[in-house]
Amino acid sequence: MRLTLALSITAAVLATASPHAKKAAIDACLEAAKVPVDAPGSADWETDSNPFNLRLPYTPAAIAVPTTLEHIQAAVSCAAKVGVKVNPKSGGHSYASFGLGGEDGHLIVQLDRLYNVTLDSKTKIATVQPGARLGHVATALYDQGKRAFSHGTCPGVGVGGHSIHGGFGFSSHTHGLAVDWIAGATVVLANGSAVHVSETENRDLFWALRGAGSNFGIVTAFEFNTFPAPENVTAFEVNLPWNNASAIAKGWGNLQHWLQTGGMPEKLNMRVFANRGQNVLHGLYHGNTTEMKAEVQTLLKTVNSTLSNVRESDWMGGIAHYAYSNEIDITGPGYDTVENFYSKSLVTSALPTEVLESVAQYWEDEARSNTRDWFIIIDMYGGPNSAVTKVPAAATSYPYRDPKDHLFLYELYDRVPNTGSYPANGFSFLDGWVKSFTDGLDESQWGMYVNYADPRMNRTEAQNVYYRKSLPRLREIKKQVDPTELFYYPQAVQPAGL
Ligand SMILES: Cc1cc2nc3c(=O)[nH]c(=O)nc-3n(C[C@H](O)[C@H](O)[C@H](O)COP(=O)(O)OP(=O)(O)OC[C@H]3O[C@@H](n4cnc5c(N)ncnc54)[C@H](O)[C@@H]3O)c2cc1C
Ligand SMILES: *[C@@H]1O[C@H](CO)[C@@H](O)[C@H](O)[C@H]1NC(C)=O
Ligand SMILES: *[C@@H]1O[C@H](CO)[C@@H](O)[C@H](O)[C@H]1NC(C)=O
Ligand SMILES: *[C@@H]1O[C@H](CO)[C@@H](O)[C@H](O)[C@H]1NC(C)=O
Ligand SMILES: *[C@@H]1O[C@H](CO)[C@@H](O)[C@H](O)[C@H]1NC(C)=O
Ligand SMILES: *[C@@H]1O[C@H](CO)[C@@H](O)[C@H](O)[C@H]1NC(C)=O
Ligand SMILES: *[C@@H]1O[C@H](CO)[C@@H](O)[C@H](O)[C@H]1NC(C)=O
Ligand SMILES: *[C@@H]1O[C@H](CO)[C@@H](O)[C@H](O)[C@H]1NC(C)=O
Repeated sequence: MRLTLALSITAAVLATASPHAKKAAIDACLEAAKVPVDAPGSADWETDSNPFNLRLPYTPAAIAVPTTLEHIQAAVSCAAKVGVKVNPKSGGHSYASFGLGGEDGHLIVQLDRLYNVTLDSKTKIATVQPGARLGHVATALYDQGKRAFSHGTCPGVGVGGHSIHGGFGFSSHTHGLAVDWIAGATVVLANGSAVHVSETENRDLFWALRGAGSNFGIVTAFEFNTFPAPENVTAFEVNLPWNNASAIAKGWGNLQHWLQTGGMPEKLNMRVFANRGQNVLHGLYHGNTTEMKAEVQTLLKTVNSTLSNVRESDWMGGIAHYAYSNEIDITGPGYDTVENFYSKSLVTSALPTEVLESVAQYWEDEARSNTRDWFIIIDMYGGPNSAVTKVPAAATSYPYRDPKDHLFLYELYDRVPNTGSYPANGFSFLDGWVKSFTDGLDESQWGMYVNYADPRMNRTEAQNVYYRKSLPRLREIKKQVDPTELFYYPQAVQPAGL
């Protein structure tokens, strides 16, 4: 579509204009194009500019709140004309506030009012608007036809950011990542045009979108394949006797061997959750209690422990269990959970004994004595029965598909009370823990997960560790579709040749 701008100055002038002048220009352009916006200082502005991670607040130049595809196209065209960077925000759960641009002065396209989910009863493909939150998606798919696709646990996370960068949860060992269920999408590009991507249309862009989607445009509609939700799922816990460094290294080594050698049944989904007070396996078996008990016998022997908190339920009961909430069907801007934290991630191969030992020693020496509210999650990500590593490496830009090199996904998280502030000398805690892994690994044996973005890395390092082997092709595609980096944030993919 074409826009008439109520502006007399040219884009070239604006590109070098002051932030104040740019703000005036973007406001004027959005108004002329009749794009709904949040008035600065209004309650909506406060809600929409409030970051999930309180540690990283940023002030947008403007916040557009589109209700149509045309509004999104017009907003992107305004940003291009005025020379303001633009970022879509879906659920707003980026750890680095990348939905707010990761710095001041961007145009934010707030998508969370667009949350319709429609299941086609024949094809079982769901059309999902880009600001739907995961809990609502799960509820709607179940209500409309007892269907599902895999995704993470937090019901407030947006499908927009989550699914295009991976999306791991308690269905992923059985059914893969959220990104693996994307059948197609409509995307608004930097030049304002809307294109459809799928296995048969705009295939480069479809590839790029499934792993690094925030760099190429704004997804305005998703089509997801779905699977039938299992009748029953069974959640359980297993306490791990990991009470000192040698017990951690030995116990983890045994668990790793079990995972690596095919011990983990396909229908099992599991993670280690540990903090100052506990070391526990969280599991979700896609089946009933009887089946689960039969299938976890080798696991219990391997970790020398017993089952606890066994809870069988229907599908939505399993979702609620690991959301730690009965409030699942969350829509729109009303969701106001926030935290104040620093987080890092890893994806690694099986860990050699000396790495297990150095990680366990760090855990014992530095983590146990740290009185902040930290946790580590070790996801049972790969292994011979994992659906994630059965997807061919070249199928999507998401880079962690090697059955050998990608065994565990980790989240390391360190938070302070919302009313406090994260200490300036706090970062070294997680930096050091991650270093205790990577020092003993080859670069091919580890990477990081952009859905748990760590904004303290410089851009070169961030692109490398997030995208690994996919990076060169991503940079080529970026050069083709967004050479001027309209969709920029501090760790965004750089166009090739820059
Ligand atoms: C409490 C909590 C629990 C989590 N649990 C899990 C989990 O179990 N598993 C897991 O894998 N991850 C998990 N995550 C991480 C989560 O997947 C990422 O933070 C994700 O990117 C958030 O998506 P969002 O849409 O809510 O965030 P946003 O901040 O809105 O967006 C994140 C990024 O995606 C871009 N983006 C958003 N929408 C679009 C769109 N329509 N088109 C193009 N780009 C878009 C944004 O510009 C930004 O760069 C969790 C996060 C939180 C806060
Ligand atoms: C969502 O779907 C409902 C019912 O079909 C419809 O009335 C509404 O306009 C849709 N909302 C958007 C933003 O598309
Ligand atoms: C570590 O814990 C294990 C299991 O509880 C115990 O057998 C072992 O003696 C402990 N080792 C040390 C060094 O404390
Ligand atoms: C558990 O599930 C299995 C496989 O679906 C089924 O054969 C069995 O009857 C179920 N048992 C119970 C107690 O529901
Ligand atoms: C397994 O756990 C039991 C009970 O905690 C303990 O007595 C036994 O030594 C452990 N066995 C091994 C091989 O660690
Ligand atoms: C098992 O699934 C059925 C169908 O979803 C449901 O009616 C039943 O309540 C479930 N069992 C439990 C223990 O929740
Ligand atoms: C980016 O960070 C890496 C790792 O810390 C460092 O080696 C590199 O020199 C940095 N690059 C720039 C341009 O600062
Ligand atoms: C918009 O950009 C895409 C990707 O570079 C290109 O294929 C398309 O032709 C462009 N459309 C217009 C109208 O310029």
